[in-house]
Amino acid sequence: MDLEQEIGRLKRELNAVVLAHYYQESEIQDVADFVGDSLALAQQAEKTQADVIVFCGVHFMAETAKILNPRKLVLLPDLAAGCSLSDRCPPGQFQAFRQKYPDHFVVTYVNSSAAVKAMSDVICTSSNAVKIVSKIPADRKILFAPDQHLGRYVMKQTGRDMVLWPGSCMVHEIFSEKRLVQLKVEHPDAEIIAHPECEAPVLAHADYIGSTKQLLDYTGTSPKTKFIVVTEAGILHQMQQRSPGKTFLPAPPDNGCACNECPHMRLNTMDKLYRAMRDRTPKLELPPGLAEAAYAPLKRMLEWS
Ligand code: 13P
Ligand code: SF4
Repeated sequence: MDLEQEIGRLKRELNAVVLAHYYQESEIQDVADFVGDSLALAQQAEKTQADVIVFCGVHFMAETAKILNPRKLVLLPDLAAGCSLSDRCPPGQFQAFRQKYPDHFVVTYVNSSAAVKAMSDVICTSSNAVKIVSKIPADRKILFAPDQHLGRYVMKQTGRDMVLWPGSCMVHEIFSEKRLVQLKVEHPDAEIIAHPECEAPVLAHADYIGSTKQLLDYTGTSPKTKFIVVTEAGILHQMQQRSPGKTFLPAPPDNGCACNECPHMRLNTMDKLYRAMRDRTPKLELPPGLAEAAYAPLKRMLEWS
């Protein structure tokens, strides 16, 4: 069966839009109507006229689409596609943590569950975190969750002090500073570009830091022709497509592998995408009231962006 053709047919039949994150396998990126970072995908989900949103990404991303479109059918090819960062911030523990800082303005990274979002004042993504935090009045104390590395990066960029939830991403914290430096010695002409979920010692070597989309855009406009890319390796597909003459080297993790893939993102496959559209399942559902509770902080982010 030609999966690409069948997915195209089902898109028309369902009036569906396929949204994909840059960490999806390249075949899924190629069949998607839109490929983007967390912010761009949320913006697309907010404005889509489609009846069905097929989200090729992880659970919190599909949840975001559902919060913005509670009456639409949102499909996620594999419901088990979670996120280590989101999982490391359970709603019950976050509620207790939050209660210790009742006067703090709560900024929550989009890589979190809908329940945690619902306890927040505003949501941010890696592409707008600095902008969002800068908009908070200087006399307000801030609590930032759940990514401590992004939080520290934002503190450095804004000069704001923040209480940090001690979370991290299993993919970005496994990059090896030693192996990164070795690769740079082998390729002294390469620029190092990194995602802000990486640990500070790794970020210290970066020539440019940004969200997946910002990294992609940077490689397109930079006069440099070689890049060491310190994030999930799926983004290299778009970088190579946009700049075929340039060289992209995935930064090595500390586990003996040559590149780093998110095991959650990679649960989605072309076959599961096709079946999800054919069978209209697995559906992303939220408990009654949760989408409404998480809407205001998410909408605030979209307005502040
Ligand atoms: P972006 O918003 O930069 O695409 O990041 C999403 C993510 O999950 C990073 O690990
Ligand atoms: Fe979550 Fe990390 Fe995977 Fe991004 S790369 S979805 S933060 S586990």
